Amino acid sequence: MQLLDGKLLSQQIKQEIATQVTEIRSNGQKIPHLVAILVGTAGRSETYVASKMKSCEEVGMKSTLIRFDDSVTEAELLAKVEEVNQNPDMDGLIVQLPLPAHISADKVMETIHPSKDVDGFHPINIGRMAKGLPAYVSATPQGILEMLKRYEIETAGKHCVVVGRSQIVGLPMSILMQRNDYPGNCTVTLTHSRTKNLAEITRTADILIAALGKPEFITAEMVKEGAVVIDVGLEKVPDASKKSGFALKGDVKFDEVAPKAGFITPVPGGVGLMTICSLMQNTVKAARREVY
Ligand code: GUN
Repeated sequence: MQLLDGKLLSQQIKQEIATQVTEIRSNGQKIPHLVAILVGTAGRSETYVASKMKSCEEVGMKSTLIRFDDSVTEAELLAKVEEVNQNPDMDGLIVQLPLPAHISADKVMETIHPSKDVDGFHPINIGRMAKGLPAYVSATPQGILEMLKRYEIETAGKHCVVVGRSQIVGLPMSILMQRNDYPGNCTVTLTHSRTKNLAEITRTADILIAALGKPEFITAEMVKEGAVVIDVGLEKVPDASKKSGFALKGDVKFDEVAPKAGFITPVPGGVGLMTICSLMQNTVKAARREVY
């Protein structure tokens, strides 16, 4: 078994981005600027956004965090998105999900200008990605592709099983893994909560991507010997043996799956760190007007 080390890769990628930003600065060009909008303080969003902002600082990029209370109206939020759309200094905009129930995430995503949509959530970017046209690809799937590429994992002709059909990960991942490119050219099966005989399907996966958000759902008996196992999950679960009282778990039961896997991502230290790198790479592309 070989570990797909997100920590090591993300350090390398951050170094590469820092070098690009230094070049941009020394050429007198505009420093890439990422804007994040965070609504409320619930869940893990605050931690995620804080680490996105911190990573931008580390590589010399500009970042701005705009915060709203949970009580913000949809109209107020959309007005702020429009303001960022119009601001030429702001290259990339993300609105952290989930949003409170009274705000339509779809409406917000559709209001972000596609050229600033570094999360790749706008229908135009999803459509362009699906057609293989230049587009912002959402950060987690892009981070997974980068990981497969940098570990030179063969994908052509393999069976890739994606567990979970979220718009952020499962759906785009399934599209990307089937395209005629590297990484890609897989035969893809997208599974979800209504899939029958899930374990039978996952056992045929050469590449298994678990993105369903259920801690330790994927057990050893669901995995083929030698499979590449990518774990997108990250949940806090109670753990009395830890000082904090909780442990971070992925969607894969790591201890029993790892000995069976050919390659596997750890949690934490796997896919999550790659996601942030992809977001910053997209913001550099936005500043350089590489996609639009
Ligand atoms: N919530 C969970 N993951 C993401 C992400 O990649 N982008 C945004 N905007 N919200 C998220």
